[in-house]
Amino acid sequence: MGSLTHLLLSVTVALGAVELISGYSFQNCIEVPFSRGKSFNCIRRKSKIMKDLIDGLPETAINLTITVNPVWQVPKNSFVKLPNLQNLRLDQNKLRAIEQFAFQKLNHLKSLNMSVNNISELNSSVFQDLHNLTFLFLTNNRLKQIPEGIFSNVLNLRTLTLRQNVLMNFSGIAESVSHLKHLTMLDLCFNNLTSLHSNASLPKSLTTLYICRNNLLTLGCKHSFLRFIQVLDFSYNSRLPAKAFQDVDLSRINYLRLRSSVKILEFLNISNVPVNHVDFSGTSLNNDTLLMELCRLLKKAKWIKDLNLDSNGIRNQTFDILRYCPEITRALNLSRNNLKSLGCLKFLMWQTHIKGITAEHNHFTSLPSCRKKGYFKDLEDLSYRYNRILSVNSHAFFHTPNLKLLKLNINTIAFLDRKALKGLKKLETLRLDNNLLTDLYNNTFEDLFNLQTLNLRNNRIAVIFNGTFLNLGNLTILDLGGNKITHIQPSGLEGLKSLSKFYLDGNNFKQIDTTLHSVFQDTLTTLDLQRNQICFLKEDVSYSPFMNLSRLSDLKLDGQQPYGLNILPRNLFRGLHSLKSLYLTNNEIPDLSPDVFDDLTGLKFLTLDNCCLGVAHLKPGVFKNLRNLTKLVLENMRMQNFSEEVFRNLTQLSQLQLNHNAIQSITLDALDSLHKLSYLDMRGSSLSCTCKNTLLQNWTVNNTKVQVVYLYNLTCPHDPKQKFYNFHTNVCYIDLGEYLFLSTALVIFLFTLIPVLYVKLYWRMKYSYYVFRSWFSERWRRLREEEENCKYDAFVSYNSSDEQWIMDQLLPNLEGKGSSFKLCLHHRDFEPGRYIVDNIVSAVYGSRKTICVVSKNFLRSEWCSLEIQLASYRLFDELRDVLLLVFLEPISERQLSSYHRMRKVMLKKTYLQWPGPDCIDPTQAQELFWNQLRRAIGTGSRLETEENYMSKGHATESNETEHCETYTSDENFYLLP
Ligand SMILES: *[C@@H]1O[C@H](CO)[C@@H](O)[C@H](O)[C@H]1NC(C)=O
Ligand SMILES: *[C@@H]1O[C@H](CO)[C@@H](O)[C@H](O)[C@H]1NC(C)=O
Ligand SMILES: *[C@@H]1O[C@H](CO)[C@@H](O)[C@H](O)[C@H]1NC(C)=O
Repeated sequence: MGSLTHLLLSVTVALGAVELISGYSFQNCIEVPFSRGKSFNCIRRKSKIMKDLIDGLPETAINLTITVNPVWQVPKNSFVKLPNLQNLRLDQNKLRAIEQFAFQKLNHLKSLNMSVNNISELNSSVFQDLHNLTFLFLTNNRLKQIPEGIFSNVLNLRTLTLRQNVLMNFSGIAESVSHLKHLTMLDLCFNNLTSLHSNASLPKSLTTLYICRNNLLTLGCKHSFLRFIQVLDFSYNSRLPAKAFQDVDLSRINYLRLRSSVKILEFLNISNVPVNHVDFSGTSLNNDTLLMELCRLLKKAKWIKDLNLDSNGIRNQTFDILRYCPEITRALNLSRNNLKSLGCLKFLMWQTHIKGITAEHNHFTSLPSCRKKGYFKDLEDLSYRYNRILSVNSHAFFHTPNLKLLKLNINTIAFLDRKALKGLKKLETLRLDNNLLTDLYNNTFEDLFNLQTLNLRNNRIAVIFNGTFLNLGNLTILDLGGNKITHIQPSGLEGLKSLSKFYLDGNNFKQIDTTLHSVFQDTLTTLDLQRNQICFLKEDVSYSPFMNLSRLSDLKLDGQQPYGLNILPRNLFRGLHSLKSLYLTNNEIPDLSPDVFDDLTGLKFLTLDNCCLGVAHLKPGVFKNLRNLTKLVLENMRMQNFSEEVFRNLTQLSQLQLNHNAIQSITLDALDSLHKLSYLDMRGSSLSCTCKNTLLQNWTVNNTKVQVVYLYNLTCPHDPKQKFYNFHTNVCYIDLGEYLFLSTALVIFLFTLIPVLYVKLYWRMKYSYYVFRSWFSERWRRLREEEENCKYDAFVSYNSSDEQWIMDQLLPNLEGKGSSFKLCLHHRDFEPGRYIVDNIVSAVYGSRKTICVVSKNFLRSEWCSLEIQLASYRLFDELRDVLLLVFLEPISERQLSSYHRMRKVMLKKTYLQWPGPDCIDPTQAQELFWNQLRRAIGTGSRLETEENYMSKGHATESNETEHCETYTSDENFYLLP
């Protein structure tokens, strides 16, 4: 048995090993749903070994993301089994070593990201197979240098990012990239470069070069070295003197950033850079003199697109100066200065074509009324974010009537004059979020006919008054999230004829506003009611608040405060046939009615993550109409079972999340009914490692259709060291083992017993067989009838070798000599031609007694035994005393011992011993013998009582001398009466 178990075990283990490879789950990766085997994420795993991380990924993989892992090495040939990779992310690991042939065979790789690791060295042939590599990111490592020739085969490289390393040698870098004809971007910011000296030249294609935050002391490069560069960043090289640029050709520059670097005015004087393409942020131009000088220098150009004066420490705007500047055709940036006010932009009076103004992170406290001051007809974008604006006065934007985008968010606006936004008839986007607004008036937005997006999130609005949005007929997005709205007045939403996305999350609604359905019938697509205080008290609502929202596709009702929705009315979602996503998480719903989702026939996504109170019992039919559902999240619902009746109709379901439930087992029927299932997440579930899950285990490991997320990490609830995928199912065959054991034992037992029985019961069986046979042919009955009127007084059973004694002694003494018993002798009375057994049977039953003449030869004869058997059968079973034993010669106990039946008879009855010639007085003894025998034959055969049956003693001692003595004395010789 032991070795059998062992064998089964090793077969199981061997199968397990094979299954690992064919199974549809990955040790440490998740196949991105719907990516059809092309995208994989291996994120936040514990493995330090690259091979373990990507073990088992299929060849089809194109995108592979391995991040936030403790893996420290990329050994050679790591990805040879993934030759189709195009995008490989290895960032945010602990990589220290990249072996020489780490990326062998990745001919198709386009993008390789190894940022945020600890790489301090690269082998010069590490990228040699990456012929198609286009993007290489090595940000935030410890590279000191780039080995020569490292990019010799990477001829398609376009973007190379080496930010945040400790590179010191620029010429090495220049040499290694000089032949890259497609390289357009090189980022070397945050390194330790001290000069740009190099003998090689940069490729012509290189147009973007970032060298910010190095230790440049000089440029040291040839005149033409930066000739083709268009975007150049030299910021934060504070030790770089302006004169370094003296002989450097920057004529093609489109954008140059020099923040916290050279003395800007000095630089402008020296360089041939197109002045209007320089970014002046952070260049310490903080007073009128400097700004005046700047403008004078800028005048070299007729116009300037963007004038960026961000972070210059400008305190107040004696900004008449800007009149000396060339025309700003696009935008002015005044962010991060110390400005207290921009007035009504008077300083820009001469900049009539300016399109955008950004003045974030200053110290504005209010926006004045600008009713009659100036007029900026081209100004479209205005941003005052991150100031301290408390009040916005009436007509604050009257001078900028063509604004399309106005950002007033992240201020402290508590007072927005009713007429503050007067005149903004072109405004499309208004950001007022993150302020302190409490009231909106019915004329606040009066003029904003064109407004499309209005963001009022995170204010303190409590009520939406009638007519607030009356004129916003073009508004498509209204964000009122994070306020304190308790209700909307009956016509509060009137006018919002185009509204498509409405965010009301994080307010204080206690019920779903009934005005909704009348307003947005054909426009609303998204309605966010998360984190309100909505709660239902009845199983039914009088009518569904969403009834007429025929285009609603996104509905969020999750996280109602403080105790959830409480009840989800059965008819809440009536009519929502268009709905595509429904969020109901965190709602403490005790019970989901089985028809609550019945109308959601178009639903594709449903999340019930932590929706419910206590143990969720999903009722059969609850999802019955969700035939278009593709993703279902049932996390954390304390579900205990997963039944086919509940999930049966989800025929389009492809992604199912069952994490963190108490489901102990899942039947395959239930899973099989989900025909389209391709992603099953059961992490944190408590699937038991017991026999009821053997089929599930087999399915999870062997199916090729459904990805079971991190299957190989699912542990057994009773023993976290054991894994679900390989818990020993052979314990489940213990029953079978028992059967095997029992049946084997039985077979062995029978094999032992049969020979014993054969030896012991041979005759009884044989006899039974004959009896059966006779009985079967109905002779038995006839024979028994015959017995009633016996033909013979005694049937004499003897061995032919004793025939002499029969003829000489027995016959004369019993048939002749006055006693006229009729004896049956086989050689004389058996019917010739009859089957001998039948003869014997009929002789035994046709005679009153059976005399067995026992001698050694008799015992050896088979037929004689049968006769004894038959007679003793009558003795024991029919209680007819028919057997008379006559011993012709002394037979010892030992000799008798093998004739079990005979011994039994002898113990039951006494027997007659023929007194042999060596007795003291043979004649007298023989006389006595015959008398006894005659008497015995003469008695009736029917046994009267049990008593009669008992023997009074045993004349059993069979040693030969004692025999004679026994028979000489009468008392010692007896037969039954
Ligand atoms: C692979 O990644 C790229 C870049 O991130 C992305 O554009 C593309 O859609 C991804 N492909 C697949 C099949 O997910
Ligand atoms: C590079 O990529 C293109 C298109 O993706 C492909 O046709 C070509 O075979 C690739 N080159 C190499 C060397 O694999
Ligand atoms: C790199 O430069 C920084 C200062 O910019 C310095 O602290 C650091 O020691 C330098 N590292 C190396 C390796 O030279």
